[in-house]
Amino acid sequence: MAEHPNDTVRSIMERRSVRKYKTQQIDEKDLRCIIDCGLWAPSARNTQNWHFTVIQNAELISWMNKQTKENIAGGNKDKSSKDDRDLFYGAPTVILISGGADDIWTESNCAYAVENMCLAAQSLGLSSVIIGLARFLFSTLEAEAYAKEFGVPDGYKPLYAVCFGYPDARPDPPARIPGKVNYIK
Ligand SMILES: Cc1cc2nc3c(=O)[nH]c(=O)nc-3n(C[C@H](O)[C@H](O)[C@H](O)COP(=O)(O)O)c2cc1C
Repeated sequence: MAEHPNDTVRSIMERRSVRKYKTQQIDEKDLRCIIDCGLWAPSARNTQNWHFTVIQNAELISWMNKQTKENIAGGNKDKSSKDDRDLFYGAPTVILISGGADDIWTESNCAYAVENMCLAAQSLGLSSVIIGLARFLFSTLEAEAYAKEFGVPDGYKPLYAVCFGYPDARPDPPARIPGKVNYIK
């Protein structure tokens, strides 16, 4: 990849969605830094209307994988049991990002927090991938009960999950789609 003018640009350019992780857990200090970078994201009117649930329990992540796939299959356990994907790619840490449900900027506020955390991870030698599919875990009548179990505050809705860990494979950067910028001078 081309030379980068500074470390921030390098982290932005070199971040990739990693889909294979080592089992080694991330350091507490790194985790704290990632969380702080999420908490310091911008939010419209400074509502900071996000909540992070840090999940480092392999059994729970495995249950999330199974239940999410079951929900994706519309509750068809036969179908989902044949789906051998690991939606969380063996990551040792998954952070669930929930947003205050009654604000038009919630989704974007939470997305800024997500990207801050992904870039912080990259800068620390860790990798990440955003798991939009995790929304399916909270797409059924059980959603509220699950959210409570995860410690999501009342009035908040799970929006994104993000995997963090040490990369065990590094994907090639996907090409940029041309024609996405115009200039008016
Ligand atoms: C909102 C959002 C949801 C995503 N959901 C998933 C997902 O469920 N599973 C997955 O493997 N990747 C997911 N991704 C990662 C994208 O596939 C990835 O960002 C894209 O292919 C570009 O690759 P890069 O992140 O390495 O630049 C998601 C990304 C975003 C922004």
